[in-house]
Amino acid sequence: MTRTPVNVTVTGAAGQIGYALLFRIASGHLLGPDVPVNLRLLEIPQGLKAAEGTAMELDDCAFPLLRNIEITDDANVGFAGANVALLVGARPRTKGMERGDLLSANGGIFKPQGKAINDNAADDIKVLVVGNPANTNALIAQAAAPDVPAERFTAMTRLDHNRAISQLAAKTGAAVSDIRKLTIWGNHSATQYPDIFHAEIAGKNAAELVNDEAWLADTFIPTVAKRGAAIIEARGASSAASAANAAIDHVYTWVNGTAAGDWTSMGIPSDGSYGVPEGLISSFPVTTKDGKYEIVQGLDINEFSRARIDASVQELTEERDAVRELGLI
Ligand code: NAD
Ligand code: LMR
Repeated sequence: MTRTPVNVTVTGAAGQIGYALLFRIASGHLLGPDVPVNLRLLEIPQGLKAAEGTAMELDDCAFPLLRNIEITDDANVGFAGANVALLVGARPRTKGMERGDLLSANGGIFKPQGKAINDNAADDIKVLVVGNPANTNALIAQAAAPDVPAERFTAMTRLDHNRAISQLAAKTGAAVSDIRKLTIWGNHSATQYPDIFHAEIAGKNAAELVNDEAWLADTFIPTVAKRGAAIIEARGASSAASAANAAIDHVYTWVNGTAAGDWTSMGIPSDGSYGVPEGLISSFPVTTKDGKYEIVQGLDINEFSRARIDASVQELTEERDAVRELGLI
């Protein structure tokens, strides 16, 4: 049976992450090995030529699943009929830029893109925001798309989730595939909280196995939370292949489901669970099935975790208040 191609829109397609992402989407890693895709590459005018070069390379791969590629700088065209949208293009923080300037510059990108999604995307649109500040950019886009169910707007904390698994595996000598139920809470920023209190390593509680609160507080959490800055320091550019890989993981899991006995982390609009104010786009433990996600309920949150979740949520609240004041939501 021939399946209908899925329309996948990627913004910032000519950037670093775009270059690492597009070939994996086209080869079937985003949705599955039997799902054909149409790619829509959305760039700013200065990025169009490089996007055309990338499209030439995509053609040269002769990917059996890639049906067509469209390149545009018009968001209404870029999101027309989109089933999946990966919002990667964003305004990076430059020297001397205040947080308010950064939020404002990104509001100028994510508000019109949210509106274009609202007006042009397919009814089943799923949106992942990668461009930073990812959670608040997702909130801006979601607020500009009143006709799209709010839960379709998500922000990426899967890179943090993967980083935390890798650090925990290195500490314990476990295989990454033995680690389950790890959680990233809060913002994709240095305040995020990677939580191992409910995580399992080969079925045993991870926090009990590690049994070292000092390592948790002074090594594990800061290493995961500041990993993005460490990569920038080492590479001279922010993470690209690992970020693209996490975007693939995020969408693949959302569409195809979490494994039994496991969950993942996604930045999603809060329903008020775990004391996170409703509407904030915050990272939670979620299970996914049939293209939908649900927050894992009923976890005991100890004092150590509560303080850290609250601190990250406080930062998200301040970001929301700042974009509200700027008239962006
Ligand atoms: P990059 O500068 O290499 O590429 C960004 C691209 O976006 C450029 O080609 C630019 O022309 C394009 N762009 C800018 N404004 C646009 C618009 N309005 N519409 C369409 N395209 C636009 O950056 P990168 O390394 O690819 O990173 C992209 C973003 O992802 C950054 O904000 C980065 O901080 C963020 N990031 C997030 C995570 C995460 O875990 N959430 C991880 C790594 C990077
Ligand atoms: C990362 O976590 O690698 C990025 O979000 C860092 C950044 O600021 O681009």
